[in-house]
Amino acid sequence: MSNYHIKHLEEYFQVYRKSVNNPENYWEEIAEEHFLWRKRWDKVLSWDFEKPEIKWFEGAKLNITENCIDRHLTTKGEKTAIIFEPNNPEEEAQHISYNELHKRVCQFANVLKSEGIEKGDRVCIYLPMIPDLAIALLACARIGAIHSVVFAGFSSMALATRINDSDCKMVITSDGSYRGEKTMDLKGIVDEALKTCPGVKTVLVAKRIHSEIEMTDGRDKWLQPLLDKAYQSCYMEIVDAEDPLFILYTSGSTGKPKGMVHTAAGYMVYTAFTFKNIFQYKENDIFWCTADIGWITGHSYIIYGPLANGATTVMFEGIPSYPDFGRFWEIVEKHKVNQFYTAPTVIRALAKQNLNFVEKYDLSSLKILGSVGEPINEEAWHWYNDNIGKSKSPIVDTWWQTETGGILISPIPFSTPTKPTYATLPLPGIQPVLLDDAGTEITGIQVNGNLCIKFPWPSIARTIWGDHQRFRDIYFSTFKDKYFTGDGAFRDEVGYYRITGRVDDVIIVSGHNLGTAPIEDAINEHPAVAESAIVGFPHEIKGNALYGFVILKEFGETRIHDNLRKEINQIITEHIGPIAKLDKIQFTSGLPKTRSGKIMRRILRNIACKDTTDMGDTSTLLNPEVVQEIMDNAL
Ligand code: WTA
Repeated sequence: MSNYHIKHLEEYFQVYRKSVNNPENYWEEIAEEHFLWRKRWDKVLSWDFEKPEIKWFEGAKLNITENCIDRHLTTKGEKTAIIFEPNNPEEEAQHISYNELHKRVCQFANVLKSEGIEKGDRVCIYLPMIPDLAIALLACARIGAIHSVVFAGFSSMALATRINDSDCKMVITSDGSYRGEKTMDLKGIVDEALKTCPGVKTVLVAKRIHSEIEMTDGRDKWLQPLLDKAYQSCYMEIVDAEDPLFILYTSGSTGKPKGMVHTAAGYMVYTAFTFKNIFQYKENDIFWCTADIGWITGHSYIIYGPLANGATTVMFEGIPSYPDFGRFWEIVEKHKVNQFYTAPTVIRALAKQNLNFVEKYDLSSLKILGSVGEPINEEAWHWYNDNIGKSKSPIVDTWWQTETGGILISPIPFSTPTKPTYATLPLPGIQPVLLDDAGTEITGIQVNGNLCIKFPWPSIARTIWGDHQRFRDIYFSTFKDKYFTGDGAFRDEVGYYRITGRVDDVIIVSGHNLGTAPIEDAINEHPAVAESAIVGFPHEIKGNALYGFVILKEFGETRIHDNLRKEINQIITEHIGPIAKLDKIQFTSGLPKTRSGKIMRRILRNIACKDTTDMGDTSTLLNPEVVQEIMDNAL
């Protein structure tokens, strides 16, 4: 029996039992056998969900890039680490070997050092999906700097908020990015953001689209000439197990994004372990995760998990619809991809296209398919299974979060059987529980509840950057001594879990987490708006779309409403980014509120979802009459 690599069902149950009965021992064996340490830990785990304080492998010393790169050089230096597939299929793909990756990460790390970046400094990375992005993360990790990647679809205001929240000294960006037929002016967005970020001293600029951009003297520097001059080897900073590796922002239920902090050792162990098992990676396999590195999925399963296993990982710059809707399948054929990991929203969008786009390509290399980011509906699951996996590739529906660092609930191919729409069983070391709203555990089968985890795993986030109290309030105070996920779940007759969706004010649109509060804050900035409330409603492709109820200061004439709708979406784009735009905006004279003034989102949600058969008792509202008005004018 191997703790690290589970190959059949019986083994899963044995390993799971061991991981729960003796977690310290279980993770210690894995850490010992599969990773390089510069100093061994003094203690495997100490934890207290009350404070909360969680430490794994305390006292150990390591560098994650030694585990992801250096240790592979003797046996597979010439193996491809990263395949870069450009936006334009006419442009040649790049194969970056482990040797080459080592050289480039060292050069980049030396540039960071020569620009004054030291251990513990925060570096903001705002780059498209080009090799420099992967290399920038690893270069930070090499010298113990903390990377904070901001998805390059966020607006300048969102970027500025994130840069300031974690006091980044440096921003790494590019002259622009390709997105299908379009180009985006990333440097312009950075310039705008930096007007309000006095802490940023240096901007390193990668050249990608060769556009004319402005460079600010003394602050902005082209990356390539610096890299060309840099030494090709770089001492790694040996860090403590619990030193922060990175910060990654995720939206929350207040306007301020939460900078989730992940630390070096636990994150490394858990992402590597889950990658190996969930994707059953074998030497020479080609793994492709289509996420952007701006999200946790890209951090854990494009970079750290695969590289820690010495895998070949594909990085795709473009979009699924360019030059046509066959692009993903063309890439699968071209690089003979064995494991393909994407999001339900992408599957739904591709399933709507003519099957010719799929049938044109040879997908026989595929062995395992993955899904992440939101619940996968039955129809999408079957389309994926039948047309892409040809019913022979297990689908791993992987449930996890930015906060969890790695996948917590998922099938393990060829061990635990899949079931459409179910994330299925917890991975070793993961102890989920369902609780009712009063915090009582719901045991038994065929039950629904709030999904919590009652024991720490190595890659659980340690804090919110600069706001530990908020970390405690959000995740550890709703239910005593439990990590609260914010998701609801159903447990079926064999103990399989199906995630039923968020139970808080976060809405998942096209697999992206959006908090209602930051969007409402943005809308309320419009001079004509008095108040607003956002809810989600089902959308064929995006999973959920956003529906805004907006009270205007003066109701005005209907003919100006369309303009207002455009302006509201414009403001949202400026504050957050186009991903948060509203599909529907209904102007109303009031919002249903409790007597204490709290907006009754449940009622708005029912109206937006056109599910008004059971509106509950509205008579106790402060303003019950408004409900009828909103129903009559619903879009
Ligand atoms: C949702 C993404 C159902 C869930 C890795 C979670 C899912 C949130 C699944 C985290 C899944 C993620 N089935 N829902 N397989 N995977 N979610 O932080 O609501 O971007 O809480 O991390 O996405 O989103 P995040």
